Amino acid sequence: MYNIRELKPDLFWVGGVDRRLALFENMFPLPDGITYNSYLIRDEKTALLDTADSSISRQFLENVQAALAGRPLDYLVINHMEPDHCANIDELCLRYPDLKLVGNKKTFQLISQFYELDIAGRTIEVKEWDELNLGQHRLTFGFAPMVHWPEVMFTYEQTEGWLFSADAFGSFGALAGNLFADETDFDRLYLDESRRYYCNIVGKYGVQVQNALKKFADKPLNMILPLHGPIWRQNLAYFLDKYQHWSTYQPEKAGVVLVYASMYGNTENAVDLLANQLAQRGVADLRVYDLSKTQASYIIADAFKYSHLVVASPTYNSQLYYGMENLLREMAALNLRGRKAAVLANGSWAPQAQRYMTELLGSMKNTEILAEPVIIHSAVKAEQQQQLLALADSLTASVKATEL
Ligand code: FEO
Repeated sequence: MYNIRELKPDLFWVGGVDRRLALFENMFPLPDGITYNSYLIRDEKTALLDTADSSISRQFLENVQAALAGRPLDYLVINHMEPDHCANIDELCLRYPDLKLVGNKKTFQLISQFYELDIAGRTIEVKEWDELNLGQHRLTFGFAPMVHWPEVMFTYEQTEGWLFSADAFGSFGALAGNLFADETDFDRLYLDESRRYYCNIVGKYGVQVQNALKKFADKPLNMILPLHGPIWRQNLAYFLDKYQHWSTYQPEKAGVVLVYASMYGNTENAVDLLANQLAQRGVADLRVYDLSKTQASYIIADAFKYSHLVVASPTYNSQLYYGMENLLREMAALNLRGRKAAVLANGSWAPQAQRYMTELLGSMKNTEILAEPVIIHSAVKAEQQQQLLALADSLTASVKATEL
C-alpha cells in the first residue's frame, strides 16, 4: 500500500525507510536504519525530485503513482546520482514514456556509466540557475559539486523557498512517521546521527559545503528537504549553524575525546587514569572509546564535535596498532583539523607508536600536540603516573581556555 504525505499543498513526500540495512555504503553501521526521501511536486507540470534506493523500490513506485493521482510524470530532477537515490530511474522511464530527466552534464555522464538506459531525447541538461517552470512553482538549480559527488546540485523552489538539498542536511536513522525535524525530539534522536552522517559521508568536503551554503545564503529558505533524515521547516538557523561548524571543522564543544587501542588492558588503564584526572580537574562530558569495540564513524563524529583528542596505542610489529593507524588515516582523509591533541604510546621493548601517531596527527591541518607523548613500557608505573598528571594539567588548562 502506498505511504505518502502531503508536506505542503502540491508537495508530497514519496520516500521510504529501510530498517534492515546493516551498513550504509556497506561500511557505516545503521543501528536505526535509514530513510530515503523523495519528493513530488504536483503542479501544472509534475516533477519528482530524485528517486530512491532499490531496497524500497516497490514502496517508492507505489508512492509516486499515488501522489500523481492519475497524472503523468513530466520531470525527474536528479540532484544526486549515487545509487541510493537513483535506483529507479530506468523503471520510471518505462512507466512514464514522456518523462524528461533533468540534470547537468555530469548527471547524464553518470547515468550512462551506471545503467544501460537509452536517454536520448529524454534529457533536459541544465546550467547553473536555469529555471524550470512547473506552473505555480519555479525551480532553479544551484550546483554543489562534491557535496558528495561531482554532479550534485541543489534544487531551489523559488515561489515557496524550498531547498531540495541532496545529501546535505541529511541524517542516518529511519524516520518514524514524523518527517519534520520539529515533530521529533531531534537532539535526542537525530543530532548525533546527523553529525555522524555528515562527518563520515561529506566531512572531507567542508570547503565545497561552504561554497554551496554561500550560494543560498541570500535566498529565502522556508524548508530544507534532504535526501535522508528529517525535513526542516522550523528553526532552520539551528541546523544551518551545525553545518557551519561541521563544514569549517570548528568544534561544537570544549571537551576531550580519548580513544585507545589496547591488547591486554594496560594502555586502556593509562587512558582511564587520565580521564579520571581530567574529571577531577573539572573537565566534563569526557568521551572514552576503545577503537576495537566502537566503529570508527562514531569516534570520528565525536572528534568533529569536541575540541580535544587524546590517542593512545600500543606499538605493533614495530609500527602502530592497525586499528589506530586506520582510524587516524580516516580522520585525516576526512580533513579533520584544528584540534588540540595528546599522544600516549605503549611499547614493551621498542616503543614506536608515538612516532606514527604524532606523524598522522601532524598531517591534520592546524592540529596542535599539546605535550610530549607519554610513553608506557608495558604498564603504567609511578613515572608515567606523574606524566599523566602533568598531561591532565595541560589538557585541562587548554580545554578551559578554549573559546568557541
Ligand atoms: Fe545518499 Fe551520496 O548519497
